[in-house]
Amino acid sequence: MSPHLFSTLSMKGITLRNRIGVSPMCQYSAEDGTPNDWHLVHLGSRAVGGAGLVIAEATAVEARGRISPEDLGIYKEEHIPPFRRITDFIRKQGAVPGIQLAHAGRKASTYSPWKQKVSGIAVSDEDGGWEVVGPSSTPFSEDHRTPRELSSGEIAEIQEAFRLATARAREAGFEWMELHGAHGYLAHSFYSPLSNQRTDRYGGNFENRIRFLVETARLMRKEWPEELPFTVRLSCSDWVKGGWTLEDSVDLAKRLKEEGVDLIDCSSGGNTLKAPIPVGAGYQVPFAETIRCSAGIATAAVGLITQGMQADEIIRNGRADLVLLAREMLRDPYWPLRASRQVHQEAALPVPPQYERGWN
Ligand SMILES: Cc1cc2nc3c(=O)[nH]c(=O)nc-3n(C[C@H](O)[C@H](O)[C@H](O)COP(=O)(O)O)c2cc1C
Repeated sequence: MSPHLFSTLSMKGITLRNRIGVSPMCQYSAEDGTPNDWHLVHLGSRAVGGAGLVIAEATAVEARGRISPEDLGIYKEEHIPPFRRITDFIRKQGAVPGIQLAHAGRKASTYSPWKQKVSGIAVSDEDGGWEVVGPSSTPFSEDHRTPRELSSGEIAEIQEAFRLATARAREAGFEWMELHGAHGYLAHSFYSPLSNQRTDRYGGNFENRIRFLVETARLMRKEWPEELPFTVRLSCSDWVKGGWTLEDSVDLAKRLKEEGVDLIDCSSGGNTLKAPIPVGAGYQVPFAETIRCSAGIATAAVGLITQGMQADEIIRNGRADLVLLAREMLRDPYWPLRASRQVHQEAALPVPPQYERGWN
Protein backbone atom coordinates (compact mmCIF):
# COMPACT_ATOMS: atom_id res chain seq x y z
CA MET A 1 0.00 0.00 0.00
CA SER A 2 1.33 3.42 -0.87
CA PRO A 3 2.07 5.69 2.08
CA HIS A 4 -0.31 8.35 3.36
CA LEU A 5 0.03 11.31 5.73
CA PHE A 6 -0.08 9.12 8.84
CA SER A 7 2.24 6.40 7.59
CA THR A 8 5.53 6.25 9.43
CA LEU A 9 8.65 7.39 7.58
CA SER A 10 11.84 5.48 8.18
CA MET A 11 15.00 7.16 7.08
CA LYS A 12 18.39 5.81 8.04
CA GLY A 13 18.15 4.80 11.72
CA ILE A 14 15.13 6.88 12.69
CA THR A 15 11.39 6.57 12.17
CA LEU A 16 8.99 9.52 12.09
CA ARG A 17 5.55 8.61 13.49
CA ASN A 18 3.92 10.41 10.53
CA ARG A 19 4.81 12.49 7.47
CA ILE A 20 4.21 15.87 9.12
CA GLY A 21 7.08 18.16 10.07
CA VAL A 22 7.24 21.59 11.67
CA SER A 23 9.12 23.81 9.23
CA PRO A 24 11.93 25.88 10.75
CA MET A 25 10.68 29.26 11.95
CA CYS A 26 12.79 32.07 13.41
CA GLN A 27 11.42 33.17 16.77
CA TYR A 28 13.65 36.23 17.29
CA SER A 29 13.72 35.40 20.97
CA ALA A 30 17.28 34.40 21.80
CA GLU A 31 20.09 36.29 23.49
CA ASP A 32 23.58 35.66 22.13
CA GLY A 33 22.17 32.62 20.29
CA THR A 34 21.05 30.84 23.46
CA PRO A 35 17.74 28.96 23.46
CA ASN A 36 15.44 29.63 26.41
CA ASP A 37 11.99 28.77 27.77
CA TRP A 38 10.28 30.31 24.74
CA HIS A 39 12.01 27.87 22.39
CA LEU A 40 11.25 24.95 24.71
CA VAL A 41 7.55 25.79 24.81
CA HIS A 42 7.26 26.74 21.13
CA LEU A 43 8.97 23.61 19.82
CA GLY A 44 7.71 21.41 22.65
CA SER A 45 4.05 22.22 22.10
CA ARG A 46 4.31 21.31 18.45
CA ALA A 47 5.73 17.94 19.46
CA VAL A 48 2.77 17.56 21.85
CA GLY A 49 0.51 18.47 18.92
CA GLY A 50 1.54 15.32 17.07
CA ALA A 51 4.12 16.32 14.46
CA GLY A 52 6.51 13.54 13.50
CA LEU A 53 9.41 15.96 13.11
CA VAL A 54 10.06 19.33 14.76
CA ILE A 55 12.82 21.38 13.15
CA ALA A 56 14.31 24.23 15.18
CA GLU A 57 14.70 27.56 13.39
CA ALA A 58 17.69 28.72 11.34
CA THR A 59 20.49 28.37 13.90
CA ALA A 60 23.65 30.27 13.16
CA VAL A 61 26.99 28.48 12.94
CA GLU A 62 28.80 31.71 13.84
CA ALA A 63 27.53 34.90 15.47
CA ARG A 64 28.10 36.86 12.23
CA GLY A 65 25.75 34.45 10.43
CA ARG A 66 22.65 35.39 12.43
CA ILE A 67 19.83 37.06 10.48
CA SER A 68 18.96 39.17 13.50
CA PRO A 69 20.63 39.70 16.88
CA GLU A 70 17.85 37.55 18.41
CA ASP A 71 18.45 34.45 16.26
CA LEU A 72 19.41 31.10 17.72
CA GLY A 73 23.04 30.04 17.42
CA ILE A 74 25.14 26.98 18.11
CA TYR A 75 28.54 28.62 17.85
CA LYS A 76 29.80 27.85 21.34
CA GLU A 77 29.80 24.93 23.74
CA GLU A 78 27.53 26.81 26.20
CA HIS A 79 24.69 26.52 23.68
CA ILE A 80 24.60 22.73 23.95
CA PRO A 81 22.88 22.17 27.36
CA PRO A 82 19.84 24.44 26.70
CA PHE A 83 19.34 22.76 23.32
CA ARG A 84 19.64 19.38 25.03
CA ARG A 85 16.72 20.26 27.32
CA ILE A 86 14.58 20.95 24.24
CA THR A 87 15.55 17.84 22.30
CA ASP A 88 14.89 15.65 25.36
CA PHE A 89 11.40 17.07 25.69
CA ILE A 90 10.58 16.75 21.98
CA ARG A 91 11.70 13.13 21.95
CA LYS A 92 9.65 12.30 25.05
CA GLN A 93 6.55 13.49 23.17
CA GLY A 94 7.22 11.01 20.36
CA ALA A 95 8.63 13.44 17.81
CA VAL A 96 12.10 13.59 16.27
CA PRO A 97 14.08 16.76 17.08
CA GLY A 98 15.65 18.43 14.04
CA ILE A 99 17.78 21.52 13.59
CA GLN A 100 18.47 23.82 10.66
CA LEU A 101 22.06 25.07 10.57
CA ALA A 102 22.48 28.36 8.81
CA HIS A 103 24.64 31.31 7.86
CA ALA A 104 22.75 34.39 6.71
CA GLY A 105 25.62 35.81 4.64
CA ARG A 106 24.69 39.14 3.06
CA LYS A 107 21.22 39.04 4.66
CA ALA A 108 22.64 39.01 8.20
CA SER A 109 22.47 41.80 10.78
CA THR A 110 18.86 42.91 10.23
CA TYR A 111 16.30 43.99 12.80
CA SER A 112 13.80 41.42 14.04
CA PRO A 113 10.24 41.92 12.78
CA TRP A 114 8.75 43.27 15.96
CA LYS A 115 11.56 43.91 18.41
CA GLN A 116 13.25 47.00 17.10
CA LYS A 117 12.49 49.11 14.09
CA VAL A 118 11.56 47.63 10.74
CA SER A 119 12.03 44.02 9.65
CA GLY A 120 14.72 43.40 7.06
CA ILE A 121 16.49 46.71 7.65
CA ALA A 122 20.17 46.65 8.56
CA VAL A 123 20.87 46.98 12.28
CA SER A 124 22.82 50.18 12.85
CA ASP A 125 26.28 50.19 14.43
CA GLU A 126 24.85 51.93 17.52
CA ASP A 127 22.36 49.06 17.93
CA GLY A 128 25.11 46.44 17.67
CA GLY A 129 24.98 45.65 13.95
CA TRP A 130 27.93 43.86 12.40
CA GLU A 131 29.83 43.47 9.16
CA VAL A 132 28.21 41.03 6.74
CA VAL A 133 29.94 38.80 4.20
CA GLY A 134 29.01 37.10 0.95
CA PRO A 135 30.35 35.64 -2.28
CA SER A 136 30.48 39.14 -3.78
CA SER A 137 30.02 42.71 -2.63
CA THR A 138 26.48 43.13 -3.99
CA PRO A 139 23.94 44.01 -1.28
CA PHE A 140 20.60 42.14 -1.15
CA SER A 141 18.71 45.45 -1.14
CA GLU A 142 19.38 49.11 -0.45
CA ASP A 143 18.20 48.51 3.13
CA HIS A 144 20.82 45.84 3.74
CA ARG A 145 24.50 46.20 4.54
CA THR A 146 26.93 45.91 1.66
CA PRO A 147 28.69 42.57 2.12
CA ARG A 148 32.43 42.12 2.07
CA GLU A 149 33.56 39.54 -0.46
CA LEU A 150 34.92 36.44 1.27
CA SER A 151 38.45 35.24 0.50
CA SER A 152 38.88 31.53 -0.16
CA GLY A 153 40.54 31.21 3.27
CA GLU A 154 37.51 32.78 4.93
CA ILE A 155 35.21 30.44 3.01
CA ALA A 156 37.09 27.50 4.53
CA GLU A 157 36.71 29.04 8.00
CA ILE A 158 32.93 29.29 7.60
CA GLN A 159 32.78 25.72 6.37
CA GLU A 160 34.71 24.67 9.46
CA ALA A 161 32.15 26.56 11.57
CA PHE A 162 29.41 24.48 9.90
CA ARG A 163 31.34 21.31 10.78
CA LEU A 164 31.81 22.29 14.42
CA ALA A 165 28.16 23.32 14.73
CA THR A 166 27.14 19.93 13.31
CA ALA A 167 29.12 18.17 16.04
CA ARG A 168 27.51 20.39 18.71
CA ALA A 169 24.04 19.72 17.31
CA ARG A 170 24.62 16.00 17.69
CA GLU A 171 25.85 16.47 21.22
CA ALA A 172 22.71 18.47 21.93
CA GLY A 173 20.60 15.45 20.96
CA PHE A 174 19.30 16.42 17.53
CA GLU A 175 18.52 13.48 15.25
CA TRP A 176 17.65 15.24 11.99
CA MET A 177 20.00 17.71 10.34
CA GLU A 178 19.00 20.33 7.80
CA LEU A 179 21.58 22.52 6.11
CA HIS A 180 19.93 25.84 5.17
CA GLY A 181 20.73 26.34 1.51
CA ALA A 182 17.73 28.54 0.66
CA HIS A 183 16.14 32.00 0.94
CA GLY A 184 19.08 34.11 -0.22
CA TYR A 185 21.30 33.23 2.71
CA LEU A 186 24.97 32.38 2.30
CA ALA A 187 24.80 29.04 0.46
CA HIS A 188 22.01 30.18 -1.88
CA SER A 189 23.84 33.44 -2.59
CA PHE A 190 26.79 31.34 -3.80
CA TYR A 191 24.81 29.07 -6.15
CA SER A 192 22.51 31.73 -7.57
CA PRO A 193 23.93 33.66 -10.53
CA LEU A 194 22.06 36.74 -9.26
CA SER A 195 24.40 37.21 -6.30
CA ASN A 196 27.67 35.54 -7.25
CA GLN A 197 30.05 37.53 -9.43
CA ARG A 198 33.23 35.74 -8.34
CA THR A 199 35.86 34.75 -10.85
CA ASP A 200 37.64 32.13 -8.71
CA ARG A 201 36.65 28.47 -8.21
CA TYR A 202 33.56 29.54 -6.17
CA GLY A 203 31.99 31.60 -8.96
CA GLY A 204 31.20 31.61 -12.67
CA ASN A 205 29.82 28.34 -14.05
CA PHE A 206 27.36 25.98 -12.35
CA GLU A 207 30.09 23.72 -10.96
CA ASN A 208 31.86 26.62 -9.32
CA ARG A 209 28.73 28.26 -7.92
CA ILE A 210 27.51 25.05 -6.25
CA ARG A 211 30.98 24.33 -4.83
CA PHE A 212 30.40 26.14 -1.51
CA LEU A 213 27.22 24.18 -0.75
CA VAL A 214 28.51 20.82 -1.96
CA GLU A 215 31.76 21.13 0.01
CA THR A 216 29.92 22.27 3.13
CA ALA A 217 27.44 19.39 2.86
CA ARG A 218 30.35 16.97 2.43
CA LEU A 219 32.10 18.24 5.58
CA MET A 220 28.89 18.16 7.61
CA ARG A 221 27.89 14.73 6.32
CA LYS A 222 31.21 13.31 7.55
CA GLU A 223 30.66 14.84 10.97
CA TRP A 224 26.98 13.83 11.25
CA PRO A 225 26.33 10.17 12.18
CA GLU A 226 25.78 7.99 9.13
CA GLU A 227 22.68 6.44 10.74
CA LEU A 228 20.89 9.81 11.09
CA PRO A 229 19.18 11.74 8.26
CA PHE A 230 21.08 14.61 6.71
CA THR A 231 18.99 16.98 4.60
CA VAL A 232 19.36 20.25 2.66
CA ARG A 233 16.81 23.02 2.11
CA LEU A 234 17.10 24.56 -1.35
CA SER A 235 15.48 27.52 -3.02
CA CYS A 236 14.46 25.52 -6.07
CA SER A 237 13.90 28.63 -8.19
CA ASP A 238 14.80 32.31 -8.02
CA TRP A 239 11.58 32.92 -9.99
CA VAL A 240 13.33 35.43 -12.30
CA LYS A 241 14.91 35.27 -15.74
CA GLY A 242 18.66 34.78 -15.47
CA GLY A 243 18.32 33.30 -11.99
CA TRP A 244 18.57 29.80 -10.52
CA THR A 245 16.09 27.33 -12.03
CA LEU A 246 14.32 24.08 -11.18
CA GLU A 247 16.55 22.31 -13.73
CA ASP A 248 19.60 23.58 -11.83
CA SER A 249 18.02 22.27 -8.63
CA VAL A 250 17.56 18.80 -10.11
CA ASP A 251 21.24 18.73 -11.09
CA LEU A 252 22.31 20.00 -7.67
CA ALA A 253 20.06 17.47 -5.91
CA LYS A 254 21.78 14.65 -7.86
CA ARG A 255 25.16 15.96 -6.71
CA LEU A 256 24.02 16.25 -3.11
CA LYS A 257 22.66 12.70 -3.23
CA GLU A 258 26.14 11.52 -4.19
CA GLU A 259 27.46 13.32 -1.11
CA GLY A 260 25.16 11.30 1.15
CA VAL A 261 22.31 13.81 1.47
CA ASP A 262 19.12 11.90 2.31
CA LEU A 263 16.39 14.41 1.50
CA ILE A 264 15.89 17.78 -0.21
CA ASP A 265 13.53 20.24 1.45
CA CYS A 266 12.06 22.13 -1.50
CA SER A 267 11.49 25.82 -0.89
CA SER A 268 12.07 28.76 -3.25
CA GLY A 269 12.86 32.45 -3.61
CA GLY A 270 14.45 34.85 -1.16
CA ASN A 271 17.44 36.01 -3.18
CA THR A 272 15.80 38.97 -4.90
CA LEU A 273 12.94 41.28 -4.08
CA LYS A 274 12.00 41.46 -7.76
CA ALA A 275 10.61 37.93 -8.13
CA PRO A 276 6.93 37.66 -9.08
CA ILE A 277 6.22 34.55 -6.99
CA PRO A 278 2.85 32.94 -7.81
CA VAL A 279 1.96 32.29 -4.18
CA GLY A 280 -1.02 29.98 -3.72
CA ALA A 281 -2.05 26.70 -2.10
CA GLY A 282 0.80 24.20 -2.39
CA TYR A 283 2.67 26.42 -4.85
CA GLN A 284 6.06 24.81 -4.18
CA VAL A 285 4.83 21.20 -4.26
CA PRO A 286 5.77 20.82 -7.97
CA PHE A 287 9.41 21.43 -7.00
CA ALA A 288 9.33 18.57 -4.50
CA GLU A 289 7.60 16.35 -7.06
CA THR A 290 10.03 17.06 -9.89
CA ILE A 291 13.17 16.68 -7.77
CA ARG A 292 11.83 13.44 -6.25
CA CYS A 293 11.17 11.98 -9.71
CA SER A 294 14.12 13.40 -11.64
CA ALA A 295 16.91 13.23 -9.07
CA GLY A 296 15.70 10.05 -7.35
CA ILE A 297 15.98 11.50 -3.86
CA ALA A 298 13.45 11.86 -1.06
CA THR A 299 11.87 15.31 -0.78
CA ALA A 300 9.89 17.47 1.61
CA ALA A 301 7.17 19.78 0.28
CA VAL A 302 6.55 23.13 1.97
CA GLY A 303 4.54 26.26 1.32
CA LEU A 304 0.86 26.97 1.95
CA ILE A 305 -0.02 23.45 2.97
CA THR A 306 -2.87 24.02 5.40
CA GLN A 307 -5.46 21.26 5.03
CA GLY A 308 -5.33 17.62 6.11
CA MET A 309 -6.71 16.31 2.81
CA GLN A 310 -4.29 18.50 0.85
CA ALA A 311 -1.30 17.17 2.79
CA ASP A 312 -2.56 13.59 2.52
CA GLU A 313 -2.91 13.91 -1.27
CA ILE A 314 0.72 15.08 -1.60
CA ILE A 315 1.98 11.96 0.17
CA ARG A 316 -0.50 9.49 -1.38
CA ASN A 317 0.33 10.61 -4.90
CA GLY A 318 4.07 10.34 -4.32
CA ARG A 319 4.69 14.05 -4.80
CA ALA A 320 6.86 14.22 -1.65
CA ASP A 321 7.90 11.97 1.21
CA LEU A 322 7.18 14.51 3.92
CA VAL A 323 5.19 17.74 4.27
CA LEU A 324 6.45 20.67 6.32
CA LEU A 325 4.09 23.29 7.71
CA ALA A 326 5.10 26.67 9.06
CA ARG A 327 2.39 29.34 9.49
CA GLU A 328 -0.46 26.85 9.92
CA MET A 329 1.51 25.34 12.82
CA LEU A 330 1.68 28.80 14.43
CA ARG A 331 -2.09 29.08 14.19
CA ASP A 332 -2.62 25.57 15.49
CA PRO A 333 0.09 23.53 17.21
CA TYR A 334 -2.38 20.62 17.30
CA TRP A 335 -2.74 20.60 13.51
CA PRO A 336 -1.50 16.98 13.20
CA LEU A 337 -4.08 15.76 15.73
CA ARG A 338 -6.86 17.59 13.91
CA ALA A 339 -5.64 16.42 10.49
CA SER A 340 -5.67 12.81 11.69
CA ARG A 341 -9.41 13.22 12.30
CA GLN A 342 -9.97 14.91 8.90
CA VAL A 343 -8.36 12.01 7.03
CA HIS A 344 -9.91 9.33 9.25
CA GLN A 345 -6.64 8.19 10.80
CA GLU A 346 -7.37 9.03 14.42
CA ALA A 347 -6.06 5.65 15.54
CA ALA A 348 -2.66 6.53 14.08
CA LEU A 349 -2.11 9.50 16.40
CA PRO A 350 -3.27 9.10 19.97
CA VAL A 351 -3.99 12.27 21.93
CA PRO A 352 -1.48 12.81 24.76
CA PRO A 353 -3.04 11.25 27.90
CA GLN A 354 -2.97 14.62 29.66
CA TYR A 355 -5.35 15.99 27.00
CA GLU A 356 -7.55 12.97 26.37
CA ARG A 357 -10.55 14.30 28.27
CA GLY A 358 -10.69 17.38 26.09
CA TRP A 359 -10.62 15.44 22.83
CA ASN A 360 -12.99 12.57 23.45
C1 LIG B 1 7.78 33.29 11.40
C2 LIG B 1 8.49 32.56 10.31
C3 LIG B 1 9.84 32.28 10.45
C4 LIG B 1 10.53 31.55 9.47
N1 LIG B 1 11.85 31.19 9.67
C5 LIG B 1 12.46 30.34 8.81
C6 LIG B 1 13.71 29.77 9.12
O1 LIG B 1 14.28 29.97 10.20
N2 LIG B 1 14.28 28.96 8.19
C7 LIG B 1 13.66 28.67 7.00
O2 LIG B 1 14.22 27.94 6.18
N3 LIG B 1 12.45 29.16 6.72
C8 LIG B 1 11.82 29.96 7.61
N4 LIG B 1 10.55 30.38 7.35
C9 LIG B 1 9.85 29.84 6.17
C10 LIG B 1 9.04 28.60 6.55
O3 LIG B 1 9.85 27.57 7.07
C11 LIG B 1 8.24 28.08 5.35
O4 LIG B 1 9.15 27.60 4.38
C12 LIG B 1 7.33 29.14 4.73
O5 LIG B 1 6.69 29.91 5.73
C13 LIG B 1 6.27 28.51 3.84
O6 LIG B 1 5.48 27.58 4.57
P1 LIG B 1 4.00 27.96 5.14
O7 LIG B 1 3.19 28.41 3.97
O8 LIG B 1 3.51 26.66 5.73
O9 LIG B 1 4.16 29.06 6.15
C14 LIG B 1 9.85 31.14 8.31
C15 LIG B 1 8.50 31.45 8.16
C16 LIG B 1 7.81 32.12 9.15
C17 LIG B 1 6.33 32.39 8.97
